[in-house]
Amino acid sequence: MKSPEFDREKLVRQAIAAREKAYAPYSNYRVGAALLGKSGRIYTGCNVENAVYPLAICAERAAVAKAVSEGEREFVALAVTTENAGSPCGSCRQVMREFGEDIIVLISDAEGNYRETMVADLLPDSFSKKDLEEAE
Ligand code: THU
Repeated sequence: MKSPEFDREKLVRQAIAAREKAYAPYSNYRVGAALLGKSGRIYTGCNVENAVYPLAICAERAAVAKAVSEGEREFVALAVTTENAGSPCGSCRQVMREFGEDIIVLISDAEGNYRETMVADLLPDSFSKKDLEEAE
């Protein structure tokens, strides 16, 4: 399948900018995300930590929550930026998967060097609403 055309560098730049907003006083591991909706809008997110450590919200999930709460549910791509191009955590993979296996994921470092993958490759053989429907 042909990869959708969109400005990958622009999305990565937005994730880098969103990372500046990260609230990560406990881990000091700052993460930024930028999620491109099919409407063309971009929703950014950053990690938001808490003194109760397990309550930290990841950047990717912050971006998804922002988009869905603005009425957007179909996505083209998500860029995520960390210092060292860290890969999205398992929880974020599952949350992205809810909205499609074909979402492109750009994983970048703080300089904007990125690699391209997709949700289906990050989370193969995933559980989804289809599994719930088939059980009904
Ligand atoms: N983090 C993210 O924001 N996204 C990920 O995919 C991995 C981890 C955040 C959570 C926490 O604030 C910090 O990075 C260290 O785990």
